Amino acid sequence: MSAGKRILLIIAGGIAAYKALDVIRRGRERGLNFRVILTKGGAEFVTPLSVASLAGSKAYTELFSLTDEAEMGHIRLVREADLVLVAPATADIIAKMANGLADDLASTALLANDKPVLIAPSMNVVMWRHPAVQANVATLRARGVVTVGPGAGDLACGEVGDGRLAEPLDIVNAALRLLSPGPLTGLKALVTSGPTYEAIDPVRFIGNRSSGKQGHAIAAALAAAGAETILVTGPTALADPAGCIVHHIESAAEMLAKVQQSLPVDIAVAAAAVSDWRPVQEAGQKMKKREGGAPPRIELATNPDILATISAPGPKRPRLVIGFAAETEKVIEHATAKRQKKQCDWILANDVSSGTGTFGGADNKVHVITAQGAEEWPRLSKTELAERLVARIAENLKGTKS
Ligand code: CTP
Repeated sequence: MSAGKRILLIIAGGIAAYKALDVIRRGRERGLNFRVILTKGGAEFVTPLSVASLAGSKAYTELFSLTDEAEMGHIRLVREADLVLVAPATADIIAKMANGLADDLASTALLANDKPVLIAPSMNVVMWRHPAVQANVATLRARGVVTVGPGAGDLACGEVGDGRLAEPLDIVNAALRLLSPGPLTGLKALVTSGPTYEAIDPVRFIGNRSSGKQGHAIAAALAAAGAETILVTGPTALADPAGCIVHHIESAAEMLAKVQQSLPVDIAVAAAAVSDWRPVQEAGQKMKKREGGAPPRIELATNPDILATISAPGPKRPRLVIGFAAETEKVIEHATAKRQKKQCDWILANDVSSGTGTFGGADNKVHVITAQGAEEWPRLSKTELAERLVARIAENLKGTKS
């Protein structure tokens, strides 16, 4: 399906640039065509000749080159591509992309581009973790740029950590996924995931044991099926799922605000374990123990119900809203009542009583409650459950495109 698709590959100046040659080789083996731009730094690491030999077409390097512009202007380079891939994506080119700089052929082409963009970051671990780089990457992701890697391991600089360019085959596979439309291509999805933290004071909070595994798996499966997927997540130990636009929040109020900003969408899945309550007041300073004094009493206020807000009738209501119900007894009865109360279309009810291992565990067992009744699904890994749910979503929305 992706055979013959055209990739505009931008090779920036990092030591991993040599691996971009393997990306071209493996991509061509899978039927992809490449046009390549080398940045000035990129051309220090690999030569235009080696790129051209592997790509089967010349490597472009100059913005103000009469011959290059006559042959193939920088605008045509992006217009004729199906996907733009930046590999390796250095801290410098990521910063240029995030800030809209256009001072060479690569950055100008990226600014003139309206095609999907995949970046494969590669740099020293301290650079990668620098807040400036992380903020730039977050900006790009929020604009829909997809990242692949970096991986962890030995770095060329002798240090160890995150920052290694993803393996060439993984980069090619990520590109192929973006290029082949899935059953949800053209639809927009929103997922909430993880716990919320409700601040008591600057160091303490009310939270819960949600790991975010199920919500993140659903977001990944929606993105893999082609949906433009926004994930709004509370604090978790998980990596951002591939192909999603991810917003990190802490409190229920922040989650609700991001959710509302993200609407309208076609599909919404509320998998977050939102704290039902929050302290009425967050203390400005750390609360101190007082010698012989009574422990503090924390007054609580009720948090907004995010799922009920999404499900409420109105012009922005998604076509399909799916919630979860965490129950410890009378699972189907309580979940059925919850579906009606929150006005969502489906509820995935799970038993979270102690001993089931659902919270934080690798698998899940649910009953799917719809207007037609309850359906029992077998125990599945959270990834399998996510895939099955997404297949069901695609089936349900088939032929009902608005
Ligand atoms: N939910 C939400 N916002 C809230 C509370 C819950 O969006 N403030 C969503 C959850 O993401 C989940 C569903 O509502 O999809 C049900 O969550 P659950 O904790 O089972 O239900 P509660 O509404 O909290 O009800 P209770 O705790 O009384 O069972």
